[in-house]
Amino acid sequence: MRIIRTIAEMQQWSATQCELGNSIGFVPTMGALHRGHAKLFGRSVLEHDKTVVSIFVNALQFNNRNDLEAYPRQLEKDMVIAEETNVDALFVPNHDEMYPTNFSSTISAGDIAAHMEGLHRPGHFDGVATVVVKLLNAVTPDVAYFGIKDLQQVAVIRHVVRDLNIACQIVSVPTVRDANGLALSSRNTRLSPDHAEEAQQIYRLLLELVTQCAAELTSSEHVKAFFVSQLQSSTSAKVEYVEVVDVDTLRPSLMATSGTTICVAVWFGDVRLIDNISIDSSSS
Ligand code: PAJ
Repeated sequence: MRIIRTIAEMQQWSATQCELGNSIGFVPTMGALHRGHAKLFGRSVLEHDKTVVSIFVNALQFNNRNDLEAYPRQLEKDMVIAEETNVDALFVPNHDEMYPTNFSSTISAGDIAAHMEGLHRPGHFDGVATVVVKLLNAVTPDVAYFGIKDLQQVAVIRHVVRDLNIACQIVSVPTVRDANGLALSSRNTRLSPDHAEEAQQIYRLLLELVTQCAAELTSSEHVKAFFVSQLQSSTSAKVEYVEVVDVDTLRPSLMATSGTTICVAVWFGDVRLIDNISIDSSSS
């Protein structure tokens, strides 16, 4: 596996692959790799001649300094995981390589970023959009893979890629969970054992809501009230938001019906977790 640290070398490597007629699949990450990331790598390896993974903890998308500082960093371990999953090139630029002195051009993510994550993490999606465009320009992949766990992130990226004429297909990949249902996340390692146990309730409640919605017409208000009251009465969690949104536009929906997704953000202590479930998932 080739380790690449500069944008110039990354672009050169990709140009060579292109000349050789090789297709390139790309998975951008912030490291602390787990089985969720590995599933994206596996999809890319299956579908492309070459797979590039980037690891870059992007300061621009953190609206909370503590979260940035506490973000797990484990490059040596990550290299082993990438190697084991047959990744061809690992792109690991440092902060100065991505944001040199006088860096000043950023991308505004627009309306799709205005609610949910965007509302509660001001500037977050501008930072995500900026870094993803920079990474796409460095790697020039045919296809880039993103997890549905970060549903709004995929929607933002699709918009940016379309709006700015970036010649890259965006593919979304289903969420990988622990045996107990907790969506895998790099932040899970920061949960205390008690919080990790309590956090299992998130997916249990989402599944219960999908069952309720399949059985009878259910309002988004009911979904919100049920999730908040059930989670907060049985655990120490603080629910930041529960939204029922149209899966394509991400606009809030009055009813939790087919074509909508329940999205939640929950705090356990100082760890913030997000998850979502499609109302249609009981029929799939
Ligand atoms: P990161 O949180 O490292 O996630 C990298 C990719 O892995 C994202 O597309 C995310 O949705 C996906 N992913 C995370 N957990 C997953 C799970 N349990 N199942 C399936 N996929 C999962 O998302 C980012 O990094 C950053 O915002 C980034 C796009 C790299 C820009 O900095």
